[in-house]
Amino acid sequence: MTVQERVEKLLAQMTPAEKAGQLTQYFYFRLPPDAPGPVLEFDRDEQPRMVEARLGEGLVGSLLFLTDPAEINRLQRLAVEGNRFGIPALVGFDVVHGLRTVFPVPIAMAASWDLEVIEAGQAVAAREARAVGIHWAFAPMVDIARDPRWGRIIEGAGEDPYLGAAVAVAQVRGFQGQEMGTPERIIAGPKHFAGYGYALGGRDYDEVDLSDSQLWNVVLPPFRAAIEAGAGNVMTAYMDLNGIPATGSGWLFTDLLRDTLGFDGFVVSDANAVRNLVTHGFAADLTDAGARAVNAGVDMEMAISGAAYAHLPEALEAGEVDMAAVDASVRRILAAKVRMGLLDDPYVDEDRARQVLADPAHRDVARVAAERSAVLLRNENGLLPLDATALGSVAVIGPLADSPRDTIGPWVFDFDLDETVTVLAGVRARAGGDRSGPGAATPDHAVRVGYARGVPVVQREFPSLFDMFGGNTPSDPDGFDDDAEFRRAVDLAAGADVAIVVVGEWQNMIGEMASRSSLELPGRQLELLQAVVGTGTPVVLVVMNGRPLDLRWPAANVPAILDVWYPGTQGGTAVANLLFGDVSPGGKLPFTWPRTVGQVPMTYAHTISHEPENQARRYWDEASTPLFPFGYGLSYGRFTYTNLTVDEPSTTTRGTVTVSVEVANTGDREADEVVQLYLHQRHGTASRPVRELKGFERVTLAAGESRTISFPVGPDERRYWNAAVRDWVTDASTFDVWVGGDSTADLTTRFEVTK
Ligand code: BGC
Repeated sequence: MTVQERVEKLLAQMTPAEKAGQLTQYFYFRLPPDAPGPVLEFDRDEQPRMVEARLGEGLVGSLLFLTDPAEINRLQRLAVEGNRFGIPALVGFDVVHGLRTVFPVPIAMAASWDLEVIEAGQAVAAREARAVGIHWAFAPMVDIARDPRWGRIIEGAGEDPYLGAAVAVAQVRGFQGQEMGTPERIIAGPKHFAGYGYALGGRDYDEVDLSDSQLWNVVLPPFRAAIEAGAGNVMTAYMDLNGIPATGSGWLFTDLLRDTLGFDGFVVSDANAVRNLVTHGFAADLTDAGARAVNAGVDMEMAISGAAYAHLPEALEAGEVDMAAVDASVRRILAAKVRMGLLDDPYVDEDRARQVLADPAHRDVARVAAERSAVLLRNENGLLPLDATALGSVAVIGPLADSPRDTIGPWVFDFDLDETVTVLAGVRARAGGDRSGPGAATPDHAVRVGYARGVPVVQREFPSLFDMFGGNTPSDPDGFDDDAEFRRAVDLAAGADVAIVVVGEWQNMIGEMASRSSLELPGRQLELLQAVVGTGTPVVLVVMNGRPLDLRWPAANVPAILDVWYPGTQGGTAVANLLFGDVSPGGKLPFTWPRTVGQVPMTYAHTISHEPENQARRYWDEASTPLFPFGYGLSYGRFTYTNLTVDEPSTTTRGTVTVSVEVANTGDREADEVVQLYLHQRHGTASRPVRELKGFERVTLAAGESRTISFPVGPDERRYWNAAVRDWVTDASTFDVWVGGDSTADLTTRFEVTK
C-alpha cells in the first residue's frame, strides 16, 4: 500500500473525536518536587494523569518533552493499545543543540560558517534522539534576529537572511537526511512562522510589526530554504504579526506557507498558542480558538494543558469548521507517521539507545564544532596562541571558567554534567599535566594552573522558564560576592605568567523568556577583569554568551578576546585547543556587535537614506559603527585578498557573472578564513542595502598557501522583493562587489546589468 492508501484507509474509519485526537500534541512531564511554583495552572501529577487517560482513549496524536527510552516505550504502548487502529504517537522534542552530546548553541554553530559541521552536528543529535524514540525536532529556529536584547537570538543563525538560509538547509539535512523517514534521522521543524525575531523592544512574545519588504527579503528566505530542503514540519509563532495572532492567521499558513512557499508538511502550533488565541483577544473561547487555528491551516495543536482541539467535534457540529479542513490536517499527520515508519515499528531498543548516547564519535563531532565556532575578536601582538612550553603558570579566573552547566548552554535537558569539560578542566588537561579529566592530553611540560572564581555572575538567584523542569539551575545560585575571593583572584593573576579570564552571562540569562534591557556584563565581572588587567599580567578574555555583550572596555584594554559562546559537552577541550594553538580560531560573527544597547537593533545591511556623509554620526552621543562588524573574526593566520575580478564586465538581468578573488595566508600557521562576498545595487526600483552577503566559503590555508575562490552572482543573488509592486524584481543597474574577511571588506570591483 502507498503512504496515501494507508492514510485514507485509516481516515475513512475515524470519528470526529479520534480525528481531533490525532491533531493534538500533549506535553508529558512530571514537575520535579522542588519545582518553583505555581508556574503552571496544574499540580505535579495532574498533567501525566490527564495525558495517560487520553492515551487510553486513543485521543493523543503526539507527545512532547520525553527523552527516556523506557518511558517513551511505555507511553507508546499506551497509545498503540488505546487507539482502535493502533496508531502510535509522534514524539517531538526540542533537539536544539544536541541531546546527550551537547553541541555549541545554535548562534555559535552559525558562527562557524561551516555548513558541513552544522549538518554533521544535527545528524548526531538526530541519531541520539531517534535512538531514544524521538521522531521530530522542534528545530531549527530560523528566525532572523537583529535585536540582541531578545534572548532567543541564541537559538538562531543571527541577523542575515543569506547566512540564515544556508544554515537552515544544513540543519534540515542534518536532522532529516535526504528525505523524511531516513533511518536514524528525525523530522525537522523550522520555526517560528513568521517574524518572531522582530519582537518590539526585543521583549520576548511582544507584538511584531513587519513591513512587506522585511518579511520577504529578510524573514522568509531561511524558511523558504528549509522548506525547499524538505523540512517536514513548521511551527507557528506566539505573537501578533501586524495585528493578527500568527497562530490564527490563514494568510500566513495557507496563502503564504502552503500556496506560495509550497510547503507540504504539517504545521504545529507553538505551546499553548492555540488556546492563547483567546488571551490575545482574538478568539471568543476555546472552541472558537480551535476552529480558527484549523481553518488557518494549523494542523496540530501543541498543548500544555486543556487542548482547544479537543473541542473540534463541537466546532464541526456547529459548522464553524469544515470536515474537509480537519481531514486535510489528519492526512498530513498520518502521512508523517507512515513515512517515519511508526505504524510498522513504534518501539525502540533501550540497550541500543544507551549505546548510541554513549558513542564517543559523537563527542568528537561536538569538539570539532566548538573549535570551529569560536570567534577571535582581538589578538594584540599575537598573545594567542599561548605556548604551553614557555609558560610556568596560568591563572584561570572567573565565574564561568568551571561551570559545567553554563558550558553547555540553554535548551538542553538530557545532558550529563559529569562528562562536560569546562574551560578550567580543558586547560588543566591540555597544559597542566592533569591526565585524569575528560579530554586529557599528554603535555611534555606541565604548567601550573591555578583557579579562582573571583566573583559570581550575579549575586541573586536568577529564575528562568526552564527551572521548573529541574536540572537547569544556574551554575552558582548561592554564589556570594566576597571581597576576599575577589582579591584571591587578583593575587593569583598577579603571580601568573598569563591570566585566562572567563566571563559572560549565565546560560539561563539568555534564551526563551530571557530578554534583557542591558547588554552589560552582569554583576561585578567587568570590575574583576579590570583589576586583573591592572596587575600587568597578560590577559586572555574568554567570553561565554549567546548575544553580543558590552565589551567596549575589554576591546580597548584586553589584548586577546576569544568568544566561545556556550560551547557544549566538549567545550573546555576545544577552548584549550584553541588557546594553545592546536587549532586556529576561524569563526566569524553572525551578527553585528554593537557598542552599546542604545544602538540596537543594528544591521550591516541597512540602506543609505538621506545625507550619506552623516552615516557615521547618526547619534550625537555615540558612533553609528558597531564594536565589531558582521562577519568579523580573526585567526592565527594572516589573510590577504588580491586580484578581485568579474569574468564579464556586464550581463543581462537573467545572466550570471563569476566573481573571483585570490586569498593568501601570509602568516606562519595554517588557519581558516571565511571568504565573504557582498553586493550592492547602485540604483533601481527600490533603494537597496549598502551591502548584502551573497556568497561565502570557509577555507583552510597552510602558511604561505594561496587559493582562488569563485562565486556565481546571478539573478537569485540580485533579485529582491519590491514592496511597491509586491513582487520579485531584478533591476538593471550597476553592482558593486566587495570580497574580504568581514562586512567592511574594502577590496572592490563592479559589473553592469542591462535589461
Ligand atoms: C517555544 C518553542 C518550543 C516549545 C516546546 C515554546 O515555548 O516557543 O520554540 O519548541 O516551547 O518546548
